[in-house]
Amino acid sequence: MIDALGNPSSVLLLGGTSDIGLAVVERLSPERGIDVTLAARPGTRRDEAVKRLASRGHLVRTLDFEATDLADQERLVAEAFPAGRDVDVVVLAFGLLGDAELLWQDPAAAAEIATVNYTAPVTLGVRLAEKLSTQGHGVLVALSSVAGERPRRSNFVYGSTKAGFDAFFTGLREALRPSGVRVVVVRPGFVHSKMTAGMKAAPLSVSPEQVADVAVDAVRTGKETVWAPEPMRFVMSAIRHVPAPLFRRLPI
Ligand SMILES: NC(=O)c1ccc[n+]([C@@H]2O[C@H](COP(=O)([O-])OP(=O)(O)OC[C@H]3O[C@@H](n4cnc5c(N)ncnc54)[C@H](OP(=O)(O)O)[C@@H]3O)[C@@H](O)[C@H]2O)c1
Repeated sequence: MIDALGNPSSVLLLGGTSDIGLAVVERLSPERGIDVTLAARPGTRRDEAVKRLASRGHLVRTLDFEATDLADQERLVAEAFPAGRDVDVVVLAFGLLGDAELLWQDPAAAAEIATVNYTAPVTLGVRLAEKLSTQGHGVLVALSSVAGERPRRSNFVYGSTKAGFDAFFTGLREALRPSGVRVVVVRPGFVHSKMTAGMKAAPLSVSPEQVADVAVDAVRTGKETVWAPEPMRFVMSAIRHVPAPLFRRLPI
């Protein structure tokens, strides 16, 4: 259970090598070690993530997770919620950015990003909802993106997946409300993580740790939808209302 100070005892990170996800786990329990399950593809990145969290005193276990393998989700979720063991916080942090120009011209690339960023989160969301509502508590943190608020020409396939992702988890929040389970939707702008390595940073860019601070504050205080950095909320509110002919000409 999450204690009175907002500290969880157990966390499940789906996308166990995500820079943002790992920063969230570290900030969720900075003072004491907790049970952490990293669901990720096996490899050196996962091994390094285990070492990073173990060095901070966390008890880390791993589960193999390939997001495109939808048929494997039943096994994954059963192993993530072993009998008698609750999960206090679930962080959904896997995702793909992809090559924006390839994505709208190559059906296989489009199918992959749609599966990783939308279909897999939705079907996992359904399974997680059942587990969390049965235990009767918990917080699900869903890493969305400002890219979904008004998809733009420069990366509209990614943006479209995040729009669907965001709508699903915003709706799931309402469906789960009576059960006592909370859903926090986090909408970062440009984050300096391995996903954006080598790209020119957009205005108001942030670090994974800054996103984590916003997400963890929401877990602790009960906020439901949060932007990182926080002023991005007002920027996106304005951008949503820019007329299309002008929006088309914006350098974003
Ligand atoms: N970085 C940004 O600017 C930004 C902005 C807004 C929102 N976000 C969102 O925030 C979340 C975390 O991103 P990040 O910045 O932390 O990026 P990241 O460090 O690149 O993490 C992405 C994660 O997704 C996992 N992943 C990708 N494809 C997968 C697949 N087929 N099966 C299983 N796992 C897969 C990666 O695993 P592997 O290590 O196995 O590849 C990695 O754990 C993503 O949903 C992203 O869309 C990021």
